[in-house]
Amino acid sequence: MRIGVIGTGKIGQLRATTIREHAGTSLAAVYDVNADSARQAAGGTKAVVAASVDAFFDVPMDAVVISTPVHVHDDTCLTAFARGLHVLIEKPVTNTAASTRVLVEAALAAKRAFGVGFNLRYYPAIKFMHEAIGEGKIGTVDHFRVFGGHEGLPKFAQDWEYKAPMSGGGAMWDVGIHTTDLTRYFLGEITSVYGISTERVWKVPGSEDNAMAVFKNPGGIAASYQATWTEWKGYGFFIEAYGDKGMVRAAYAPMRNTLITMNEPGGERAKTEQYYLEAMVREKLFSWKTTALQSFREELDDFLKLVDGRRDLTIADGYAGLRAAEVAEAVRYSSRTGEAVTLPVLGRMPA
Ligand SMILES: NC(=O)c1ccc[n+]([C@@H]2O[C@H](COP(=O)([O-])OP(=O)(O)OC[C@H]3O[C@@H](n4cnc5c(N)ncnc54)[C@H](O)[C@@H]3O)[C@@H](O)[C@H]2O)c1
Repeated sequence: MRIGVIGTGKIGQLRATTIREHAGTSLAAVYDVNADSARQAAGGTKAVVAASVDAFFDVPMDAVVISTPVHVHDDTCLTAFARGLHVLIEKPVTNTAASTRVLVEAALAAKRAFGVGFNLRYYPAIKFMHEAIGEGKIGTVDHFRVFGGHEGLPKFAQDWEYKAPMSGGGAMWDVGIHTTDLTRYFLGEITSVYGISTERVWKVPGSEDNAMAVFKNPGGIAASYQATWTEWKGYGFFIEAYGDKGMVRAAYAPMRNTLITMNEPGGERAKTEQYYLEAMVREKLFSWKTTALQSFREELDDFLKLVDGRRDLTIADGYAGLRAAEVAEAVRYSSRTGEAVTLPVLGRMPA
């Protein structure tokens, strides 16, 4: 498959690397307003280093990876679908639920695959948790507890990363968009949202520095959720599932799991702590990007299968991107009105 990459910054460079490495893909074209960065992403391959967006789309290819800043996702994505290309887009898909819906509809109309870069689904600790629940190790799941955050504004180098008109909003659109998706991944769907969001610390209009919420799936299984930009410890997230016979926790950074099992509710506990020493050392030596890169490799593998029409995959699709945006907006609405918001079941995008 011939794939082009538009936006070759931190994330785009990693995406281009996975395409260059993969036996089933070739890097067809790269474009970035910073030509040096685009040349670097081409990495000595025959990929066309395009001088404009139009020149980029004139290169024959089958799919495009969009890793530009969030507020410049829309036009590129619409052009890609209009030209019959499949799309793998970085999170958040775009900066409102309404504009995300437009892109989802464009994908459906064009009958093209729409993958969304919720790459945390591929983190080993998340896979461990998914398997533990699937194998019934904690019994019947009762509820989830979810946290994602970092220290906030000092973390950002560019305005588009945190100012609502470009980013969509605050913590829920940043680290929280990933943890909302992970919550949905484990709940199956999020159909009820009640929450509170606040802007008292950083005072960026429309960008919540904290969001606390309760999400529910159609079966009434709940998740308590916090996304924050005021975490004193730096970047981190965790998700925990509590069942009638135990609990499982996935956390990062560092990557780790805790699994507690009991043969009956309240029975004798067996505890497993899973550490990922190789990842810890690798990240210490070569940065978090190595872990992201590994997840991007697996996501690309899945994206090829998505293009082939498979749907039984780990990769997030446009509906996942849409629901994460809808949930972020629902928390804001709920906070303003004091009401819970009900959302319909989306499920998976059809082939
Ligand atoms: N999956 C993840 O964990 C993860 C992590 C960080 C960022 N992201 C997402 O990845 C995307 C890119 O983030 P980043 O951290 O790589 O940002 P970045 O600033 O490092 O890279 C963005 C690149 O896009 C280029 N660019 C800007 N406007 C452009 C335009 N109109 N046309 C072409 N190129 C343009 C910039 O020159 C830059 O090279 C965003 O959507 C962001 O939310 C995802």
